[in-house]
Amino acid sequence: MIQVTRIEDLRNHLLPLRKSGRRIALVPTMGYLHEGHMALVDAARAANDVVVASVFVNPLQFGPNEDYAKYPRDLQRDAALLEQHGCDVLFAPSVEEMYPKPMATYVEVPSLSTPLCGRTRPGHFRGVATVVTKLFHIVQPDTAYFGQKDGQQVAVIRRMVEDLNMPIDIVAVPIVREPDGLAKSSRNIYLTPEERPHATVLYRALQRGLELLQSGERRPDVVRAAMADLVSSEPGVRLDYAEAVSMDTLTPPERLHGATMLAIAAYVGGARLIDNVQVDVQDNQVHLL
Ligand code: PAF
Repeated sequence: MIQVTRIEDLRNHLLPLRKSGRRIALVPTMGYLHEGHMALVDAARAANDVVVASVFVNPLQFGPNEDYAKYPRDLQRDAALLEQHGCDVLFAPSVEEMYPKPMATYVEVPSLSTPLCGRTRPGHFRGVATVVTKLFHIVQPDTAYFGQKDGQQVAVIRRMVEDLNMPIDIVAVPIVREPDGLAKSSRNIYLTPEERPHATVLYRALQRGLELLQSGERRPDVVRAAMADLVSSEPGVRLDYAEAVSMDTLTPPERLHGATMLAIAAYVGGARLIDNVQVDVQDNQVHLL
């Protein structure tokens, strides 16, 4: 694996590979890698000739009171993990390399960025869409891999790629969980040993929502309230939102039908955690997506 920090060096490295017809995959990350990221790298490795992983904590997607400064970073460990999983190129630019001057151009998908996490994190998805567009232009991958845990992020990126005719296949990789159901996340490091058992309430609440759907419930408010009640009754946990939404709009339909996401965000101690389950809801059946 080679490690590159400059955009020009990355372009010079990838140009001959692209010209000789190699299929290039990009795995964009903010580092502090865990098994969830490694599942992205493994999927990319299995289906492409060249795997590029980026590690960049993107200041543009953090609000002024969020955890940009304290977001966990360990590039050496990340590099070792990526190498073990067969990554070819690690792109780890500095903030100055990515943003040499204040940005005057942004990419936005407002309709999909304002519900769910957008309510408490205004500007977050604009920062994500903008940095992902920059990474797509820098790497020019054939395909890019994202985790389903960030379900709203995947929806925003898919729509951006479609609307702007970016010739890139977007692959969403299933959530990797701890044995007790907690979704793997770099932010789990913020949980103290006392808080950690309470963090499983997000998964438990999603399972509760899923059971309701499986028993025939189709009213989004009823599913939402059941999930919200469970999260709110957990000690040390503060609900941000619990929602049952259509995957097309990320808003609740009148009745749940077709591609549906149950999504939860909650604060466990100092950590804001998110999780979701994606299902196809039919009249008499519910299939996990
Ligand atoms: O999912 C993430 O880690 C980030 O939002 C991404 C896609 C790497 C953009 O900074």
